[in-house]
Amino acid sequence: MPSLEQRTPKSIIRFSEDVNIGLGRLGFMSLKISVIGLGYLGATHCVAMSKLGHTVIGIEPNQAKIDSLKSGHAGFFEPGLDEELAKQIASGRLTFQSSHDEGSRDVDVHFICVGTPQKDGSLAADTSYLHSAIKDLAPYLSKDAVVAGKSTVPVGTAALLTIELTNLAGFAPNLAWNPEFLREGTALEDSLNPDRLVVGVTNQHSEDKLREVFAPMISSGIPFIVTDLATAELVKAAANAFLATKISFINAMAEIAEVSGADATQLATAIGYDERIGNKFLRNGVGFGGGCLPKDIRALMARAEELGVGQSVAYLKEIDKINIRRRDRVIDMLTQELGTLKGKKVLVLGAAFKPDSDDVRDSPALEIASLIQGAGATAVVHDPIALSGVNKKHPELTTQQDLMKAFDGVDAVVLATEWQEYRQLDPATVSGVANKLIIDGRNVLDIAKWQQAGFKVLALGKTIKN
Ligand code: UDX
Repeated sequence: MPSLEQRTPKSIIRFSEDVNIGLGRLGFMSLKISVIGLGYLGATHCVAMSKLGHTVIGIEPNQAKIDSLKSGHAGFFEPGLDEELAKQIASGRLTFQSSHDEGSRDVDVHFICVGTPQKDGSLAADTSYLHSAIKDLAPYLSKDAVVAGKSTVPVGTAALLTIELTNLAGFAPNLAWNPEFLREGTALEDSLNPDRLVVGVTNQHSEDKLREVFAPMISSGIPFIVTDLATAELVKAAANAFLATKISFINAMAEIAEVSGADATQLATAIGYDERIGNKFLRNGVGFGGGCLPKDIRALMARAEELGVGQSVAYLKEIDKINIRRRDRVIDMLTQELGTLKGKKVLVLGAAFKPDSDDVRDSPALEIASLIQGAGATAVVHDPIALSGVNKKHPELTTQQDLMKAFDGVDAVVLATEWQEYRQLDPATVSGVANKLIIDGRNVLDIAKWQQAGFKVLALGKTIKN
């Protein structure tokens, strides 16, 4: 396996070029693929597979989603994805349908991309969509086809699904697990140029087929790790647990910095220069959110408990708590500054859990807005693209699409999601603010500039002289 240094530059499979142009010439096989479940993961995977030159059928029971995809809209905001989607549909390789039909019988690889959300009232993952997907697929499954799960699952799920599918199909299926590490905002780029490909298999045939699927990527130098089912499942849970731990670690240091006069951002830079630590995922602020990290660490705790080794990841409870405390900290800072939040008006900049996404699932920004409102203030929320999600989830919150109007008459501003629009905002152009107080929840603002414009600036993890 090539080392990272030996790898060909990641630019080998760029957005702009389709590998299929000359697939045969390059010695790659074009396969027939189905992608089951067309949410964030599935829709992106369809486009990525078609871009590699495979024939792809996207399958999803929700007809509205199918109609949207057919018209070239993924149904969520992901930079560059809709353009690529339209291009791949136009190539004739990518089609969508609401259920399996005879065409599923000669599919080489079925990728299962359904969601595994947190169960209501439990830390565990809800795997019911996986079981339905397997049930729907079974009547159309051929003996040679490989079924590759991509969803994030509790370790041991693939073994259970193998038994289930054997009973339903009447033969032992080629079940494999191929976790996906894509990030929202860079989903397609991450799918086509991942740091590594991981496949968990139980036989040579599955490995060979998956090697064919990813051949252009493997030949570009992307490491291809072949392992067993359990390891492949656990790799994803472990990676997300590690990332969450890194973020909460620096946020724990931020708590210490706040009471000792230290600066957590400088601290992160300083420790990040140590190559063993690295500077990525060490940005302190209001913490992690989204549809993955929070639910995945909880699911890992629940699964470890079921397996009788709950103690091994009991520390993740602290990771989760540190993360949640950062949201509360913003409310404490506001209360300290404003005396009380009752009757006040606070602008929250950002609603999405991170920039370049319209995803508001477990968003720190949105929870902060909710807490502000709950404390008796009016929370005004601005976000460049995620406001429809806010209105759906929290109709009690006031939303404002016009950034300049959003500042009107507010007693304080909280920057909760670091959109470029906020980072670039010239504070001198901001007017109508009743009380010039801004809390930088992501440590991205030019403090001196905001102070020059008359603002009192506070930030998480550091004490600022105003
Ligand atoms: C994550 C994993 O990165 C990805 O590999 C996996 O497939 C899905 O889960 P994603 O949820 O898209 O991806 O977002 P990510 O970029 O990881 O950010 C997660 C959260 O952590 C965001 O709320 C972000 O604001 C926060 N974050 C990230 C920090 O607070 N500090 C950091 O230094 C980095």
